[in-house]
Amino acid sequence: MNLRRVLVLFAHPALHRSRVHRAMLRAAREVQGITTHDLYQTYPDFDIDVSHEQGLLLTHDVVVCQHPFYWYSTPPLIKQWEDLVLEHGWAYGRDGKALHGKTWMHAISAGGREEAYRADGHNRFTVSQLLAPLEQTARLCGMQWRAPFVVHGTHLLSDHEVAQHAAEYAQLLAGLRDG
Ligand SMILES: Cc1cc2nc3c(=O)[nH]c(=O)nc-3n(C[C@H](O)[C@H](O)[C@H](O)COP(=O)(O)O)c2cc1C
Repeated sequence: MNLRRVLVLFAHPALHRSRVHRAMLRAAREVQGITTHDLYQTYPDFDIDVSHEQGLLLTHDVVVCQHPFYWYSTPPLIKQWEDLVLEHGWAYGRDGKALHGKTWMHAISAGGREEAYRADGHNRFTVSQLLAPLEQTARLCGMQWRAPFVVHGTHLLSDHEVAQHAAEYAQLLAGLRDG
């Protein structure tokens, strides 16, 4: 079997207070052949090593950007990562083809329940709609976009439900690895 190399780009500004991502990260680390990369642990001062990050991208086929939903978007270190790592002439532009053909997806947890993320719901837009700038960024870089994995209603989840979502996430990662 031709395994795909999966990179989990993980970003949580307060992992010590996390319930959902702590369980998801632990589950991801138990999946063989998956690289997990904790951005806040590596770059607490936001001082991103661009060539290291580009090297990681080059050696993987699938990038899973794992983070809590913060203000309908990502935590700020992911934005900093995009601004610095996705360079013109490398990730996009006439000669920027480094990421062409790779896959990008998000694995998100959201305090809001699923029914809140609908046109007639409290948040008026679906999570996929709110991720439009990230989808277009991936597409501009020639990457294939996959629909996000979303854990909803995080404040209401029992420990058992958190563990179930973490197990589903591990299965998803194994599926991405196995193509
Ligand atoms: C600064 C901040 C912004 C947040 N913004 C949102 C939001 O826009 N939508 C939402 O559904 N939840 C939002 N939340 C709730 C978090 O998404 C939720 O607490 C987190 O996903 C739980 O995962 P964890 O247990 O790994 O921390 C926000 C939380 C914080 C601290």
